[in-house]
Amino acid sequence: MIRIAPSLLAADFGRLYDEVARVEGAGADLLHLDIMDGHFVPNLTFGPAVIQALRAKSSLLFDAHLMITQPERYIEDFARAGADLITVHAEASPHLHRLVQEIKAAGCRAGVALNPATPPQAIEYLLPDLDLVLVMSVNPGFGGQDFLPTVLPKLGRLREWIGARGFSVELEVDGGINSQTAPLVRQAGATILVAGSALFGAKDLVQAISELRGPKKLL
Ligand code: DX5
Ligand code: ZN
Repeated sequence: MIRIAPSLLAADFGRLYDEVARVEGAGADLLHLDIMDGHFVPNLTFGPAVIQALRAKSSLLFDAHLMITQPERYIEDFARAGADLITVHAEASPHLHRLVQEIKAAGCRAGVALNPATPPQAIEYLLPDLDLVLVMSVNPGFGGQDFLPTVLPKLGRLREWIGARGFSVELEVDGGINSQTAPLVRQAGATILVAGSALFGAKDLVQAISELRGPKKLL
């Protein structure tokens, strides 16, 4: 089953509650929350206080994507604010295994994200401990960038490892996902598709979500 995670980065920040209600009502499965610190990526977004405010109004699964340096300093804060799933970048920590255990100890599911230039081997030995791998299909920092097709073999490799070794790990892809690129990443084995501009900019949100999800499988 393919799940769809609208990225709040592309929402109207002046009416966040309404925007979250809009995607929730249209059938989104998760709410993707892009946290940027101006160091790990050049851009700045929002922090735990915003998540906490939205948590009170939404029952969507909150998928926090931390694009920050020293993520270990903030795991507790994001867990307390109401994140269900916390994803940290492989490039942001030399002690990923410890960090993943800390995320789980805080009561959340744990994900690790890979920048386009980071090979899948960076997290191969961590797969048994992970709930999710996030493959970035743009360089993180901004919405509205073009999808990088060179990440497709990486998705395929991860799908192979997860299948062959019997792990229950979600494979999420983030960046430049729209109705043209969604079939490619679904084909390569992604199970969660993040999309910002393709969803918040859509005329018909229900239709846009269903296009990303793809045809229903009968079996
Ligand atoms: C980029 C973020 C993405 C971004 C995706 O650093 O991680 O989640 O919002 O935006 P689109 O779908 O517009 O590429
Ligand atoms: Zn993201």
